[in-house]
Amino acid sequence: RRIAVLASGRGSNLQALLDAIADGRLDADIVGVFSDKPAAPVLQRVPDALRWSRDARSYADKADYERELGDALAACAPDWIVCAGYMRILGDALVERFRGRMLNIHPSLLPKYRGLKTHARALEAGDAEHGASVHFVTPELDAGAVIAQARIPVLPGDDPESLARRVLEREHPLLVAVLQWAVSGRLNERGTTVAVDGH
Ligand code: GRF
Repeated sequence: RRIAVLASGRGSNLQALLDAIADGRLDADIVGVFSDKPAAPVLQRVPDALRWSRDARSYADKADYERELGDALAACAPDWIVCAGYMRILGDALVERFRGRMLNIHPSLLPKYRGLKTHARALEAGDAEHGASVHFVTPELDAGAVIAQARIPVLPGDDPESLARRVLEREHPLLVAVLQWAVSGRLNERGTTVAVDGH
């Protein structure tokens, strides 16, 4: 099974997938890493042949950038596409093109805290728990059907950085587990809900 990854930054989630593939926990290949930032460290985690990047900000029309991105994605024929720290809102045309096989990992317990600064917002709200979610990508930001979540307690003295660090530790196994469901054919988007089918 072929997995493509969209990412803008560090790429620790991509690394978790690569490590899981290397030691046999994830039965898949990473067939491309796509970034809107040519200098993103995430690109260095895969061989040159698997890298695609364009500076999204250099395009006058976002639709042109996303058409190129979509064509490049389609060219590597992915079964699944994962947004792992891709920090740009995806346009409707791109989302519809890959609907049902595009996933995102988001650092909050959705439906809480869509968008940015999720850790600070959870702290400000005084939440006792925080975490991360993997969900299907739909045109509305961070609003597609949730597949699975990882929960952690908020501890006294937590700040956004400490919370982000503990959530990230849980993101990695969560993403691997969901991708393994996906590549083994167990995951289906059914409108606003998700079915994780047994064997
Ligand atoms: C993760 O917290 C992810 O949930 C969020 O951005 C961060 C990306 O981290 N969307 P990394 O680039 O995978 O290390």
